[in-house]
Amino acid sequence: MIKKIVVTGGSGFIGTNFIERISNKNFQIINIDKLSKQSSPEQFKYKQKNYKFYKLNLVKKKQLKKKLFQIKPDIIINFAAESHVDRSIDDPDNFMINNFTASVNLFTIFKDLKKIKQNSKFIHVSTDEVFGSHMKKSFKENSLYNPSSPYSSSKASTDLAALSFNKTYKTNIVIVNLCNCYGPFQHFEKFIPTCIFSLLKNKSLPLYGKGKNIREWTYVDDACDAIIKLVKYKTKKNRFNIGSGIRYKNKTIAKKIFLILKKKKLTKLNSSNFFKYVKDRPGHDFRYALNSSLFNKSFNFKNLVSLSYGLESTINWYLKNKLWVNAKKTKFTGKRLGLND
Ligand SMILES: NC(=O)c1ccc[n+]([C@@H]2O[C@H](COP(=O)([O-])OP(=O)(O)OC[C@H]3O[C@@H](n4cnc5c(N)ncnc54)[C@H](O)[C@@H]3O)[C@@H](O)[C@H]2O)c1
Repeated sequence: MIKKIVVTGGSGFIGTNFIERISNKNFQIINIDKLSKQSSPEQFKYKQKNYKFYKLNLVKKKQLKKKLFQIKPDIIINFAAESHVDRSIDDPDNFMINNFTASVNLFTIFKDLKKIKQNSKFIHVSTDEVFGSHMKKSFKENSLYNPSSPYSSSKASTDLAALSFNKTYKTNIVIVNLCNCYGPFQHFEKFIPTCIFSLLKNKSLPLYGKGKNIREWTYVDDACDAIIKLVKYKTKKNRFNIGSGIRYKNKTIAKKIFLILKKKKLTKLNSSNFFKYVKDRPGHDFRYALNSSLFNKSFNFKNLVSLSYGLESTINWYLKNKLWVNAKKTKFTGKRLGLND
């Protein structure tokens, strides 16, 4: 029988890629999203008979419960969240309320759904940011949570709620802590698209602090393929780090993007003016790093996309998809957020 998979936040960056990636598999895909500025409009989404979209805010529990009980999904994958750290610094209460309430509503409804569909699965997508920063260490699944921003604390508290549901209600929600993703459909306000679009406009790209902060990067297809493993296979474990081990300073990533665009003759800037240092983000974590060996060993998983190939593909995608870029640009001012001034 064809399985029903509900993807919440399926109009956002990772959700959109995930739906495209899983579309050729034998699933009925139901996307539930409130559609925010971060979302891809439906006109650009994958459209096939096995895809349905419902515009719904997950915070509205009654409507959500009605919809999920109608659907009776086999699998729920929760990508829904407000996800931009700078925005969370300007608007902490909205991030906390939205991210916590949306996910806990889903967990509560899932607990009740499990009574009528015992084998149903729930995958909750979280972030490496919950562990905070460490100069040398890479975090394991059981490392202490030490979030720094309203965004990461909203995700951390949601993960804790999932853990408590697993203990109290035996829900077996699988929590995935993902490293930084990049690729097609990512909103301009995130780091890699900011670098690309600044350089395309011949504007020096902004580096927070001195550009020394280190992030772990995975191409979104690799992240989606990892999550698809959890969809396809059973596991008794319910916490996994999913990273790539590809860790670079922001300045190095910026330089790699500059060199690709320079080679394509798409920026007039040169090596002395392609970046500018700007005031750092308050509470800016210095380094994120995940130990993903549990996931990689359990599912025989390997990241396939190198950083150079991934960056080049991402740039090519933005260049090719002008309609998407223009549709999203109308709602984007590019104003610096999160300074807490
Ligand atoms: N992008 C990354 O690098 C990254 C890394 C690690 C973890 N994550 C996590 O992965 C998930 C997806 O990230 P993303 O980059 O695709 O985010 P995104 O901001 O691009 O998309 C999130 C989507 O969720 C929807 N949404 C938010 N609140 C909702 C609500 N109350 N009801 C319905 N829909 C709602 C938004 O409309 C949007 O379409 C998030 O939970 C994020 O915390 C992202």
